[in-house]
Amino acid sequence: MKVAIGADHGGFELKEYLKKICQDKGIETADLGTYSTESCDYPLIADKVAAEIIRGGADFGVLICGTGIGISIAANRHKGIRAALLYSDAVAALAREHNDANIAVFGARTQDKADVARYLDIFLNTPFSNGERHCRRVAELG
Ligand code: RB5
Repeated sequence: MKVAIGADHGGFELKEYLKKICQDKGIETADLGTYSTESCDYPLIADKVAAEIIRGGADFGVLICGTGIGISIAANRHKGIRAALLYSDAVAALAREHNDANIAVFGARTQDKADVARYLDIFLNTPFSNGERHCRRVAELG
C-alpha cells in the first residue's frame, strides 16, 4: 500500500507524526509537502495529493490543515477524489465502507493526534463494502 500525504503549515507537525507511524508499519509514503511551518496555501497541497491518487501513484491520501475543512473542499473539487474528514472510529470505517473515500482528512488544530492516528489506521484497514446501493451512490458522484 502507498499513501500520499500532504499538509499546509498548520498541519505540518501532524503530517510528520502520521508519516512516521505509517513508515513504522511498513506503509510506503509519498510526502508532497509542505516541508516546514512556513505559511503556505492548502489548495495547492490538496491539488498535489489529489493528482497523485488520480494518476495511480498512491492508493490513498492523507491531507491535513488547521481544521481539515479548507483542504477537504479543495480535494473534493477533483473528479474521482472522495476526501473525508474523519472525526470518530465509526466515521473512519464508514467513510471506507459506504463512501469508498480515498483521502483521509484531519484538522491539526481541532483534533487529538492519538485519535487521528487511530482513525487513520481504521481507514486504511477497512475495505469498501461493494454493496449494490453504495456502488450506485459512489458512481453517481461521478
Ligand atoms: C491556515 O491558517 C488555516 O486557515 C488552514 O490551515 C485551514 O484551517 C483552512 O481550512
